[in-house]
Amino acid sequence: MTTHTRDVEVGIVGAGPAGLMLSYLLHLQGVEAVVLEKHGRHHVEQRVRAGVCGQPTVDLLRDIGLGARLGLEGLPHHGFSLRFDRRDHRVPLTELTGKRITVYGQQEIAKDLIRAHAEKNLPIEFEVSDVALHDLDTERPCVTYVDADGDAVRLRCAAVAGCDGFDGVSRHSLPSGVLTVYEHEFPYAWLGVLAHTPPSHGELIYAAHERGFALHSMRSPELTRLYLQIDLDDRLEHWPDERVWEELQRRLDTVDGFRLREGPLLDKSITPMFCFVAEPMCHGRLFLAGDAAHIVPPTGPKGMNLAVADVRRLAHALHRLLRRCDPEPARTYSESCLRRVWCAQQFSCQMTAMLHRDPDADDFARRLTLAQLRHTVSSRSAAASFAEDYVGLPFE
Ligand code: FAD
Ligand code: PHB
Repeated sequence: MTTHTRDVEVGIVGAGPAGLMLSYLLHLQGVEAVVLEKHGRHHVEQRVRAGVCGQPTVDLLRDIGLGARLGLEGLPHHGFSLRFDRRDHRVPLTELTGKRITVYGQQEIAKDLIRAHAEKNLPIEFEVSDVALHDLDTERPCVTYVDADGDAVRLRCAAVAGCDGFDGVSRHSLPSGVLTVYEHEFPYAWLGVLAHTPPSHGELIYAAHERGFALHSMRSPELTRLYLQIDLDDRLEHWPDERVWEELQRRLDTVDGFRLREGPLLDKSITPMFCFVAEPMCHGRLFLAGDAAHIVPPTGPKGMNLAVADVRRLAHALHRLLRRCDPEPARTYSESCLRRVWCAQQFSCQMTAMLHRDPDADDFARRLTLAQLRHTVSSRSAAASFAEDYVGLPFE
């Protein structure tokens, strides 16, 4: 097989929110990049994952001219419910923080970014395979891969961005001993479903129930997104649609007769609840961003927002490094991202523990968790602190 060689300033592995946003931000600063994605465009545009965008992410999309559809179709929310003791306790986010969240699916952001790339002829190579990173310790790292036509390509770069998620190759390309990995696994998972039925409530509902956690969310006026806490070793085949609805109805039940609207399930998947941080987020000319470097449990909806915060910083750092010969923002990239990451990690873990049923907890620990929930909704300062953490830090 002959190998074609191409030159580009930044090689980006992965076309998730991190990779696509980075490529676009670099373009806006005049830095050329190529995005390499192992799946096809259809897969990237249809994959159901994040649904909640923090205000900094929404503001950034608007600032770069990609907020039109989000403005029309995104659902702004000014609060959400914590449901326990079979009652709703509203957290008025906007009243407490002046900020809001917007429900707009991750795949919609992917579609908007991919369309913007197509309009400007910015290269995204879908369906590539055998991606490997080389010479990361030098100023000319390169990425080799096989393109969708089966041709081998050697991409010579000035920097490589590993935006290929938790299961990607980038993080594993670092020499052993460079990374320290911090991980924590919760003893449960989430079963997520997408239902073709209107939401049953105007806002998100986080329900702490003695049978386990449940979440009512949405994607549009016609689509409801729901999650159930399940055992870590549970499997999709144990959850036929009728059982999913029965369990959701039970956990979302209230004293005043809340009834969940049911409908056909369009998607069903399992996500283990775990957290992970790899430090540092860069080595030589490889920079990790998003889920490639950190995973927060999705209870505090922050993973995509962290990914966007990383690449905003990375775009600036790469511009300074490659166009201004200023290595300082690249040198501090990891340290400054990690501060935000650990903040989000702390909040998301705390929120996860507060809302889920820990199978290993004794009754004493369960009473403490209930006391924490009650305090969060009954003290204004506790609610304000919770709301502030939930909406997240602004981008600097
Ligand atoms: P990814 O989205 O994982 O993208 C990585 C890309 O790299 C993929 O397209 C993958 O195909 C590609 N890739 C992998 N390996 C290779 C390779 N070898 N070669 C080429 N390409 C490769 N976050 C929020 O902010 N709000 C939420 O409401 C929220 N809800 C969530 C709900 C669930 C159930 C889950 C699981 C996550 C949720 N998250 C949420 C987290 C969010 O989805 C992730 O943090 C986000 O997808 C991270 O984006 P990324 O671009 O870093 O990684
Ligand atoms: C979602 O809609 O997918 C969602 C909402 C809130 C979360 C996590 C996921 O905390």
